[in-house]
Amino acid sequence: MTPEPYDVIDRDVLVIGAGGAGMRAAIAAAEAGCSVAVFTKSLLGKAHTVMAEGGIAAGLGNVDADDSWEVHFADTMLGGQLLNNWRMVELYAHEVVDRVYELERWGGLFDRTPDGRIMQRAFGAHSWKRLAHVGDRTGLELIRTLQDRMVHTPGADVFMEYTLTALLKDGDRVSGAIGYNRNDGRFVVVRCGAVVLGSGGWGRMYRYTSNSWESTGDGAAIAYDAGADLLDMEFVQFHPTGMVWPPGARGILVTEAVRGEGGLLFNSEGARFMLEYDPVKKELSSRDVVARSIYKEVKAGRGSPHGGAFLDVRHLGAERIKRKLPSMYEQFHALASIDITRQPMEVGPTIHYTMGGVRVDAETGATTVAGLYAGGEVAGGLHGANRLGGNSLGDILVFGLRAGAAAADFAMSRRREPKNIDERQVTQEQQALLRPLDQGENGASPGENPYKLHEELQAVMQDDAGIGRSEESLQRALAAIQELRARAAHMRVSGGRVLNPGWHTCRDVSNMLTISEAIVRCALERRESRGSQWRFDHLDQSEELGQVNFVSRRDGEAMRVEAVPLEPLPERLRPLLERSRFYDPAKLPKGYMTARPARAGRKAG
Ligand code: FUM
Repeated sequence: MTPEPYDVIDRDVLVIGAGGAGMRAAIAAAEAGCSVAVFTKSLLGKAHTVMAEGGIAAGLGNVDADDSWEVHFADTMLGGQLLNNWRMVELYAHEVVDRVYELERWGGLFDRTPDGRIMQRAFGAHSWKRLAHVGDRTGLELIRTLQDRMVHTPGADVFMEYTLTALLKDGDRVSGAIGYNRNDGRFVVVRCGAVVLGSGGWGRMYRYTSNSWESTGDGAAIAYDAGADLLDMEFVQFHPTGMVWPPGARGILVTEAVRGEGGLLFNSEGARFMLEYDPVKKELSSRDVVARSIYKEVKAGRGSPHGGAFLDVRHLGAERIKRKLPSMYEQFHALASIDITRQPMEVGPTIHYTMGGVRVDAETGATTVAGLYAGGEVAGGLHGANRLGGNSLGDILVFGLRAGAAAADFAMSRRREPKNIDERQVTQEQQALLRPLDQGENGASPGENPYKLHEELQAVMQDDAGIGRSEESLQRALAAIQELRARAAHMRVSGGRVLNPGWHTCRDVSNMLTISEAIVRCALERRESRGSQWRFDHLDQSEELGQVNFVSRRDGEAMRVEAVPLEPLPERLRPLLERSRFYDPAKLPKGYMTARPARAGRKAG
C-alpha cells in the first residue's frame, strides 16, 4: 500500500495545543535552543484557557499577608481530597508565585492594590484572598501575554487549523505525529525528537459545558492509543455556575469571581441555602460542594424557573459590578437580556474541567511513553478529586514550562539520532481517517451520522455519568458507549476532505468515545463519593479507595483499569496540612499521616 501524499514538517519539539500550557511549553523549549512547531486545531488566541476568568491562584500574600505557598499547598491537597500527587502540588504551590511575576514582566495586566501590587481576590476553598486577576478576563490576558511572548521567541512556529490524529512511534519512543489541515484536508506528518501535549481537557461529550468545540479530548485519546496511562478519569468537574437560560446559552460559564466578589446564592424560596450546606465557607465552598448543593435544591423543588439557583450581586452596587465583573455584565445583557446590577442571574452546574488526564512524572511531565510529555489540563495528578478555582491558570504556567523544558532536553540529547518515520503507521492512519469518506462501490450506504452519534453520546454522559452516578447508571452508560463505538465504525459523511466539518467530527467522536469509556470505567471502580465523584449508591468515602488512584491503559483493543496506591505524603509536608484551617483528621484515610516517608520525584509508570 502506498501512502497518500503528505507534507513533512521537521522540528526538535512538537507541541500539540496552543492554550496556556502549549504556549508556555513552546516558549520553554524554544528558549532552550530547540526548533518548535506548535499545532492547534483552532486559531491562535482562541483556547479554553480564556474560560478561567476569575484569576490565577498564587500565594503572593499581597492582600492577605499570612498567605504563603505552604497554605496554598494545604488548600490544594485538601480540596483534592488528598488524591493529588503531592509532589506536583508542592512544585506548583512554590513555583506559581514566580510564574505570576514572570507574566507581569512579560506585559500581563493585573488589577492593582492601592499601593500598586497585584490585586488578589477570594475564591472557593482558598484560605486567603489568593487569585491574581484582571477583572473577570484573566484567562484572556494570560493567553494574550503568552502569545505575544511566543511569537517573539525565535524558533517557535505556529501551525493553525490542523488536527493531529495519531502519534507516530519509532520502537517504544514517540517520533512524531500525523494529521491533516482542516482547510484543505491535506495530510501532514511532523517528525520530531519529542512531543508535548498541551491540548486541554474534554467537556464536549456532555450536553451542558463551558467548553468550546475544541475540547474533545484529542490529546489524551492519542496518548492512550500510543500506550500512555490515563489517571483518575472519573473526576470531571461541574462548575457550580453556568448559565441555564436561554437554551442557546446554557452551560456558558458564570465566573466564580462573582461569588469571590461577594455574590450570594438563593433558592426559589429566597433562602441562602449555602449557609446550610457549608456554614463555614458558604458560597465559597469548593466547587464540588456548591454544584451538588444547587443540584439538591433543584431536585427538592426549590430551583429557579429554568432549573438552577439565583446568583445575586445587586448589593455590590452597579459601579463595582461593572468594574470587577465587566464580562458577566455584558454576557447576561447580550445573551439573556438581564441587567445583573438590577436582577439576579439564574445559574446551574456545567461541565468545566477534567481533573483526570495523562499520567505524568511530577518533575518533568514525562508520560509513560518515551519522548511524550504533557502539561496543563490534559495531564492528571495535580488536582486530585476536585480542582480549586484559579489552580488551572497556575497549573498551565508551572507545568507547561516544566514539560517544555524536559521535552527540549530529551530532544536535544538525541539530536544526532535519525528520526525515523514508519510509513506503515502513516498509511494505516490515513486509511482510518479516509474511511468515513468512502461511500462504497455504489456510493449507496448512508452509514452513521457523526453528529447524531455525538448527540447520543452527550445524552448518555449527561444523564448516566453526570454530576451523580450509580452502578446502574454507569453500567447503562458503558453499554451505550460500546454500542455507539460499534456504530462509529460505520460513520459516513458526504463531501471530500476540503473544508468538511462532518469529516472532522468523525475523529472527534472516536476520541470522545475513548475518553468517555475511561470516565465511566473509573467511575464504576470508585465505589465511593469523593470530590467531583458523587455516587448515589455509595454516599460515603471508602478507607481503601481514599488511598488509590485509578489508571486506565490500553490492552490490545480493550481498556483495563488498575488501582495504584498513592505515594505516601513525606513527613516534612504533613505539618502543612495539620496547620490548615480546613484540616479535619476524621476525614483522612487511616494511616495517611503516618505512612512511611516517600522519595521525592517518583517517576510515573
Ligand atoms: O470561574 C472561573 O473564573 C473559572 C476559573 C477556573 O476554572 O480556574
